[in-house]
Amino acid sequence: MGNRVLLIVSGGIAAVKCPDLIRRLADRGIATRCVLTRGGAEFVTPLSLAALSGDKVYEDLFSLTDENDMGHIELSRDADLILVAPASADILAKMAGGLATDLATTALLATDKPVMVAPAMNVRMWDHAATRANIDTLKARGINVIGPEEGEMACGEFGFGRMSEPADIVRTVETFLNGSGRLSGRSALVTSGPTFEAIDPVRYVANRSSGKQGHAIASALSRLGADTVLVSGPTHLPDPPGVHVVHVESAADMMAACETALPRDIAVCAAAVSDWRAASPATIKLKKNGQDPEPLALTLNADILASLGNAGNRRPGLLIGFAAETDNVIAHAEAKLAAKGCDWIVANDVSAGTGTFGGDDNTVHLITPDGVDDWPAMSKVAVADKLAGRIADTLEDRP
Ligand code: CTP
Repeated sequence: MGNRVLLIVSGGIAAVKCPDLIRRLADRGIATRCVLTRGGAEFVTPLSLAALSGDKVYEDLFSLTDENDMGHIELSRDADLILVAPASADILAKMAGGLATDLATTALLATDKPVMVAPAMNVRMWDHAATRANIDTLKARGINVIGPEEGEMACGEFGFGRMSEPADIVRTVETFLNGSGRLSGRSALVTSGPTFEAIDPVRYVANRSSGKQGHAIASALSRLGADTVLVSGPTHLPDPPGVHVVHVESAADMMAACETALPRDIAVCAAAVSDWRAASPATIKLKKNGQDPEPLALTLNADILASLGNAGNRRPGLLIGFAAETDNVIAHAEAKLAAKGCDWIVANDVSAGTGTFGGDDNTVHLITPDGVDDWPAMSKVAVADKLAGRIADTLEDRP
């Protein structure tokens, strides 16, 4: 029997994407039953959801027909997962507070099934301290949060709050349903983002890394059940759900956090660690005083990946590095694999024009003892899922 999702559609313009979402789930063999809130029904009709899901749409907690047919307790009984998409600020607040004011919130309170939410709202509502606290509460309860994405919104504003695309939601749901548990009992560490190296209290040396690839890997490992720590340099990304995130600034802080978190099973170093730091950062702001600046003296940072590779009996069982290259990509990456003592290396071309740094897509080559595997161009989320899948395959037979 295929998988079943109970889709709760709450109020928001993104509800118009639900027919597409249901169709894409069906394409992947996942059946959907819908619960529509009053707000959701302002944007999408029960008829269109019923037509696409091939099932009755449930709306009213107190409707006798609905209760006779399928009580609110039973609604999620044969579902493998509850997906709230779009999840409005209102339903997230009700979930965090444990309210049961309508059929959707009652079903959510009455379930023991895994829950995923795909928030969609105006950027200010998403940024509001109340929503932030509600999201933290839900994450702490193990609820998976998909997105939201940054972009132009229906209200004309720009920022985080746009619901993730149906294709991305389906991928997350599918990965969860297929793979949940493949890495359970495993521990993982991922480094991500740039590091900032202080020159003085207000200035720093950094690089263009966005952290998107590293964050996606931490998410993917966590979705497969790994107990995941993400050590992240400064980024604009939200913390991935279910992942323990340690925020750091400098390479030295990142190294210290990695040593503390050293996992037994998996470490993926995706961070673009600054190679150098200011040799003697000033403790007070440097003044220009109308003169040419002093040359900035730099000194080498410790190599985190190489130190994990040399950690002796504390070395993680599977150690994976990244190689950001602009020329001779494979040759340079192979040299790094050997020099840093890692097991696999993910080589990517970051030369100008590829759009890799900061972009959403990546073209990588996975180098393992079995050879070089050229992956087609795909989203960073897809690279992360594929890499996590390969990790799970490899660890399957290991104690
Ligand atoms: N890395 C690290 N600590 C450093 C430098 C790099 O852990 N101080 C890791 C990166 O996270 C990545 C790998 O080493 O997994 C390769 O990083 P990259 O920037 O491609 O190469 P570098 O070692 O910095 O060498 P170069 O800048 O000369 O290409």
